[in-house]
Amino acid sequence: MAVGKIIDGKSFAQRIRAKVGDDVRNLKIDFNITPGLAVVLVGDDPASQIYVRNKNKMTIEAGMRSFEHRLPTETSQKELLTLIEGLNNDPEVNGILVQLPLPAQINEQSILSQINPMKDVDGFHVINAGKLATGSNGLVPCTPLGCLMMIKDQLGENISGKHALVIGRSNIVGKPMASLLLQENCTVTIAHSKTIDLPIETRRADIVVAAVGIAKMVKGNWIKKGAVVIDVGMNRLPSGSDGKSLLCGDVDFDEVRKNAGYITPVPGGVGPMTIACLLKNTLSAACAQNDIEQPQENK
Ligand code: GUN
Repeated sequence: MAVGKIIDGKSFAQRIRAKVGDDVRNLKIDFNITPGLAVVLVGDDPASQIYVRNKNKMTIEAGMRSFEHRLPTETSQKELLTLIEGLNNDPEVNGILVQLPLPAQINEQSILSQINPMKDVDGFHVINAGKLATGSNGLVPCTPLGCLMMIKDQLGENISGKHALVIGRSNIVGKPMASLLLQENCTVTIAHSKTIDLPIETRRADIVVAAVGIAKMVKGNWIKKGAVVIDVGMNRLPSGSDGKSLLCGDVDFDEVRKNAGYITPVPGGVGPMTIACLLKNTLSAACAQNDIEQPQENK
């Protein structure tokens, strides 16, 4: 029986990072500019520590400067704001990323709103969210950007008229994903925890993006034959008695693959693309801040 093609996010991300690396070298040669990314981690959440370490490593591999700021869990809102103000004013820093989630005493939205929108490489500032919603150029959140790139890599540039279903309505993934697909002229539905009949919604979708945070929630018989299924989930399931955990997506991979035309694995799908898009956004921010034309896209 034919099964869906596995989308190799790892190798796609490698190609993007290599292209960013080439563009960074040219920026240095032509304008003597080396883009810099500052990553701020508050507290000691183990998953966040791994993300931040990877971001740091790949930023350096792409030839950019990486500035890592690790603050203790009890950091106050004021202390974090002072750091952000310093990064906003630092000419060597072109991109600022504050790793989420933040500890309970810190108001996430008020922190994000203090980042200079031109340095907001996460695309979470309301100015960038508003630009995306209204179709003007700004910095776009990395995970949905990576998802769209994978979808177009499989279906081609023209996805106009396709039925797209986004499961999840977070500011980080669901809402910007829906805006991006709408901009591509897809017919977009956003499903969420109050959606009455999710299988009906998924069955008419040519493109399904699952970003709910519930392990293996999307079932095989929910999927239209040949659909593209993008799994944003990163759920940890206990595996056996050795205390280790297994990383698992929001999609029941083995079952869904029997109906899907294309499917992303977890790990090795969306995750690597998020970091690649972060580097792409940092390069893009450095160009915009220096009034330099954006690098050409790979064709
Ligand atoms: N935590 C989980 N995903 C993200 C992301 O894309 N950016 C930031 N800053 N924090 C996150």
